[in-house]
Amino acid sequence: EQMAKELLDPLALIKDEVSEISNRLRSMVVAEVPELTLAAGYFFRAGAEGKRTCPTVLLLMASSISMDMADPIVGSKNEIRERYMRLAEITELIHVTSLIHDDVLDDANTRRGMDSLNCVMGKKLAVLAGDFLLSKAFSTAAVSLDNAEGHNIKVILLLATAVNNLVTGEFMQMRITPIQRCSMDYYLQKSYYKTAALISNSCKAVAVLAGQTAEVATLAYQYGKHLGIAYQLIDDILDFTGTSASLGKGSLSDIHQGIVTAPILFAMEEYPQLRVIVEQGFDDPSNVDAALAYLARSKGIERTRLLAAEHAKLAADAIDALPESKDGSVLISRQALKDLTEKLIKRTK
Ligand code: FPP
Ligand code: MG
Ligand code: MG
Repeated sequence: EQMAKELLDPLALIKDEVSEISNRLRSMVVAEVPELTLAAGYFFRAGAEGKRTCPTVLLLMASSISMDMADPIVGSKNEIRERYMRLAEITELIHVTSLIHDDVLDDANTRRGMDSLNCVMGKKLAVLAGDFLLSKAFSTAAVSLDNAEGHNIKVILLLATAVNNLVTGEFMQMRITPIQRCSMDYYLQKSYYKTAALISNSCKAVAVLAGQTAEVATLAYQYGKHLGIAYQLIDDILDFTGTSASLGKGSLSDIHQGIVTAPILFAMEEYPQLRVIVEQGFDDPSNVDAALAYLARSKGIERTRLLAAEHAKLAADAIDALPESKDGSVLISRQALKDLTEKLIKRTK
């Protein structure tokens, strides 16, 4: 019975692959200089790897859309699975790079419940460690994703787009005008770039590696996009409702940094007086207190939760729109991707 249960749990099905990815990442991030190796490997040590959501989603996506038979152009089944694993590793490398650089930009002291890399080794080494990891991501892409059709070029372009979007999102947040700070559209665009662009483009890359149709590639992309946006909306709620201990990073950090997120934007719709405060910014601590007071009286948190649920639903809809399949493991993986959207909007850390 234990075994039957394990076979039905999709996360158990890919558990070995996810830990293989962790092992490979650890051996991959070795640099010429020992101190750089230490810095680059910091978030890949056992116990420091975080939730590993990226590899999990990508491997489940691969199982959800991979075609049953080996394809003479795309490769044998094993070769294809290997490529998905490499893509998951590359995506995780880019993700960790973005976290390391983000902590430098934010002057953050903690990450994943530990000291941030800039805190331990200084910001200069953290910047270089990120650059090093990014170079590893793209050299791995060049070497490991090759096939007869040149799909690797398309995949590398998708990954480059994702990095470009990460930078753009971070920039949009950093250089924002008072009018932009009050705009839900601007906030959602920035959130897409910062949080959803990597997973959405990588999900699409899975479809490209699988030799899938443009239609399936778009659905894979849509899943990642809406999952990412839902994730960020919940993150923005937790920044108000969570504690530093539960989050493994600072709480109320957005508003103290002058970053306005969905809960405040919704509260502003209820209390137009709040707009004046938001336009002024949050350099004055009394503005922070005033905004928090309005938020507490408003439906801002509740409406943000509803918006996150809408995006989670859109992600699940994309999975339901995939071409019909009778393959048991395909169906289990698709269900797991949908379960993940449910779990995500209920998370508390
Ligand atoms: C976290 O946001 C930020 C990101 C996930 C994206 C950061 C992107 C860059 C630093 C651009 C450069 C990226 C690469 C790959 C070269 P946050 O500060 O709101 O969240 P936090 O609470 O997790 O710190
Ligand atoms: Mg940050
Ligand atoms: Mg940041």
